[in-house]
Amino acid sequence: MDFRAHLEKDSIFKTISEAGGKLGLPTFVVGGYVRDLILDRPNKDLDFVCLGSGIKLAQQVAKDLGGLQVTVFKTFGTAMIKLGDRELEFVGARKESYREDSRKPLVEDGTLEEDQLRRDFTINAMAIRLEKENFGALVDPFGGVKHLEEKLIKTPLDPAITFSDDPLRMMRAIRFASQLNFDIEADTFEAITNNADRLSIVSMERIIVELNKIILSPVPSYGFKLLFQSGLLAKFFPEMVALHGVENVDNKAHKDNFFHTLQVLDNVSRVSDDLWLRWAAILHDIAKPATKRFDKSVGWTFHGHEDKGARMTPGIFRRLKLPMNEKMLFVQKLVRLHLRPISLVKEVSDSAIRRLLFEAGDDVEALMKLCRADITSKNNDKVARFLRNFDEVEKKMIDLEERDKVRNFQPPITGDEIIKLFQLSAGPIIGEIKEEIKEAILEGVIRNDRQEAHELLMKIAEKKGLINNEVNLKK
Ligand code: CTP
Repeated sequence: MDFRAHLEKDSIFKTISEAGGKLGLPTFVVGGYVRDLILDRPNKDLDFVCLGSGIKLAQQVAKDLGGLQVTVFKTFGTAMIKLGDRELEFVGARKESYREDSRKPLVEDGTLEEDQLRRDFTINAMAIRLEKENFGALVDPFGGVKHLEEKLIKTPLDPAITFSDDPLRMMRAIRFASQLNFDIEADTFEAITNNADRLSIVSMERIIVELNKIILSPVPSYGFKLLFQSGLLAKFFPEMVALHGVENVDNKAHKDNFFHTLQVLDNVSRVSDDLWLRWAAILHDIAKPATKRFDKSVGWTFHGHEDKGARMTPGIFRRLKLPMNEKMLFVQKLVRLHLRPISLVKEVSDSAIRRLLFEAGDDVEALMKLCRADITSKNNDKVARFLRNFDEVEKKMIDLEERDKVRNFQPPITGDEIIKLFQLSAGPIIGEIKEEIKEAILEGVIRNDRQEAHELLMKIAEKKGLINNEVNLKK
């Protein structure tokens, strides 16, 4: 294969080729860029390897580009240049050996082939020459092109060595399989299973980067099944593994909540690319194992799993090093509310819908997506009936929202107004009055409108014995 024509279209390759030429350093573009070029996927990160000092090459390139800044990582012998939205990484070819207890490699200069051999997968171990004489020629010593065609993830070395060198690669294998819909070659997968324990030396931050890429892949259940089968999932996400399994008492079995969760995740992924909605799908039933009971008359129950799941969410986020910010609160809210629309389907009352709009606020559409995804019955008629009923609920939501605007509820009368009107000082009574007005709106006793709220306020004030200042009330 020859990529000359392609590389000639992008001036950066000529610039780097010439910089390598000036320094007498054979230079190559390697790794993910080459893989994605063959797969026709966009890739903004370019990795360059040269036979010599990557840092010197980067400095030459930066100079030739008109004096760009070079960031040097001395310990790793690498250098980086930012060029618009692209990142160019430079490194000298190396053969690497690793310490047992750490991912940090000990670096030694090597040949191109040694450098390719120490990379994670054959599809990531291809290089394209940038030297003037053979500009654009592919160097593919381990069958990377063949494995791209066969849709196969395989290590260039004995997989036990590749994974033991850098255990993060076990997560990467599954991540690439899930993103690209590839198989993992049998020996490679067996080595992941055998080395799963070694994930313990990898930081949670790096594990989660890979996990989030799996979650964002087209059919994330595929990656999760591989994580589960290989034993990796149990190493960092035991709560999810605990969803697996079916118990049977008196011939009554509950569904396998692990596979149900994965189906919900796939369903949500068909309608949304939002990472956090996908996380809500992963966590929506997370407290089912902890709340599971068997009742002789009704069978299996999971009472309160939505509230307990919401209480578990911050702890899981913290441990998995996911952000403890509004993203967590969004996921927590969806976990807590995920059963509410289903109960509305059974008995739709305006006040229940208003309450849900009030609690879900702007996340109500995301919540409805999750709830629709949660209908995973094998009975197609039942699924169709539920989804039709959800349509009804959503129609009602739109009507009620138009009328009462409770979605981002702003009290029609503020605490300050109440204080002024009755010459009160701030205190719990203000909150009580506001709560009573809010409740009346949500229950549909009055509309969310200033005049109706004011009339109700007067009645409440009378009841509470606050009307004693004629002058103020005339205002
Ligand atoms: N690599 C490796 N082992 C790792 C990480 C990276 O061997 N643990 C090598 C692979 O050759 C990889 C290259 O370094 O192609 C660049 O890695 P990275 O930028 O992390 O990933 P990409 O393969 O480019 O994929 P993506 O952009 O999807 O992350």
